[in-house]
Amino acid sequence: MGNDKILVAIAWPYANAPIHVGNIVGSHLPGDIVARYHRLKGNRVVMVSGTDAHGTPVTLRADAENKPVEEVYQRFHNQFLELFIKAGISYDLFTTTHTENHFKVAQAMFLALKQNGYLYTETRPQWYSPGAGRFLPDRYVEGTCYICGFEGARSDQCDRCGNVLEPEKLINPRSKVDSSQPELRETEHFYLDLSKLEPDVASFLRERQHYWRETVIAQSLGQIESEGLRPRPITRDLDWGVPVPVDGWQGKCIYVWFEAVIGYLSATIEWAQVINQPDAWREWWSQPDARAFYFIGKDNIFFHTAMWPAQLKGAGEEFNIFFDGKPGKALNLPYDVPANQFMNLEGQKISGSRNWAVWGLDFLSRYDPDPLRYYLTTNMPESKDTDWDWQEFVARNNNELVATWGNLANRVLSFAYKHWDGRVPEPGELRPEDKAILATVEAGFDAVGELLEGIRLRAALFEAIRLASEVNRYLDTVAPWFEIKRDKAAASRSIYTALRAIDSLKTLLAPFLPFSCERLHHYLGYDRPLFGKQVIENRQDRLGNHNVLRYLPNEATGQWKPSALKPGQPLNQPEPLFRKLEDKIAEQERARLGS
Ligand code: MF3
Ligand code: ZN
Repeated sequence: MGNDKILVAIAWPYANAPIHVGNIVGSHLPGDIVARYHRLKGNRVVMVSGTDAHGTPVTLRADAENKPVEEVYQRFHNQFLELFIKAGISYDLFTTTHTENHFKVAQAMFLALKQNGYLYTETRPQWYSPGAGRFLPDRYVEGTCYICGFEGARSDQCDRCGNVLEPEKLINPRSKVDSSQPELRETEHFYLDLSKLEPDVASFLRERQHYWRETVIAQSLGQIESEGLRPRPITRDLDWGVPVPVDGWQGKCIYVWFEAVIGYLSATIEWAQVINQPDAWREWWSQPDARAFYFIGKDNIFFHTAMWPAQLKGAGEEFNIFFDGKPGKALNLPYDVPANQFMNLEGQKISGSRNWAVWGLDFLSRYDPDPLRYYLTTNMPESKDTDWDWQEFVARNNNELVATWGNLANRVLSFAYKHWDGRVPEPGELRPEDKAILATVEAGFDAVGELLEGIRLRAALFEAIRLASEVNRYLDTVAPWFEIKRDKAAASRSIYTALRAIDSLKTLLAPFLPFSCERLHHYLGYDRPLFGKQVIENRQDRLGNHNVLRYLPNEATGQWKPSALKPGQPLNQPEPLFRKLEDKIAEQERARLGS
């Protein structure tokens, strides 16, 4: 089994809105599936993310609520932690960017880039509100996109064409605070010289283009080859954020995107401190055989395929000097950035402000997490936008999760529990048809595993469910419920075979359906759980308190292999894994939307 080092890096949600199904399917869930798979294989996984606490999305929200930004960010952050526990998103560490550690790491990277000659300062015009007497960076200004003509574009990014924008080029700008027209005023900022780093970024992308998603390559390498990379300002006139670590720059902060991506590194460093192995992060960041997967939505591609690699490359070994004063190795670039497209809702774009959204916590107050994970995975927008459809959610729950998989597990376990005194039957010699179905299911460890390695999660789930249908077919043919009436030995063989097949399917499905597979694992009589536990802890530093979510591994390792179920193993009283949903809930749920 493996001993690979896998970094699962997931986009940091802004602390300005609750998390909805589009966010879950876009990044948190695919990252979690991959992390759980690698843990089952026995690989060494670190899965990190945190709350993106800074930047104008968060300060605008606080302005709108008329509350301190600190309070607003903490409120959303704590809701995120609750959601990830309920949805089983198993972060080794989910922290926030508002920590002393993150400030230190972000400032070290800034200084390393400066030292290496990739930063310069320039005074240029930026939007300024004469009425409010302040600059209006990024989302404080909206207007018409100079690329596609969309009238609701934010000054830093357009949600229609997806381009990252140069704010001062926005047409017909308006202040988000009071709709007044801002004017341009000179202000000095640091710029990251992306044009100097362009050759490095381009060759980094070319080396990886043969295994990256086409959609991601088109939006990264494709764009660089046609337009090149231009320098970008990486500081802002804001007081909420990571201060620029240069004398005379008081009152300015590092740009939220520049510092938030550094969170992947700072969170791994914090994780290493939490587990009391302060140098452990280096194995994932400076050993060339470690692989880092970044799970993000398509609107984040530029920052992860161009900006972040440029920051890592440009900071180089010097990062270590500014971080802890000791020499160290250069930092690893991403191995893969399997960005997802978007999920719409009932045919329309998800919109939090119009309540056109299925919110994670609200959903989980009425339904279980595994049906959510199942439906989202079958509809994962891996290559094109997909749609959440409540009718389809009900249908897939009832026809696939319950009918194909849940009933299979339940009827075999209940039958075995009842007729073999709560133990796994002694099979005697297996027949060719028994061996054939086991071989079919066991081939899934390679087939499903390979799809998971390639981040083809929908296909991996469909393959596992296809194998469950094969086991149903086997049972229909051998029909142990009739066999038992005339030949108990034959029924023992069939039920033993089916239990073993189900035991293997349980492992194949566990990355997708961790809650129900854990229960099934228990019904099958195992003591060691499949997975570890999630806990919330409070941490204190000079910036205050912050809660973190942790994953405490206590699983056996190397479980990604065919069942070796022992005849005679005591079973536990089984219960159904899933429940059927009524058709009418689709109507009820649709009625909640948009209100
Ligand atoms: N907060 C950003 C968003 O929600 C994502 C940041 S990803 C990070 O779009 F890596 F930069 F943190
Ligand atoms: Zn646009």
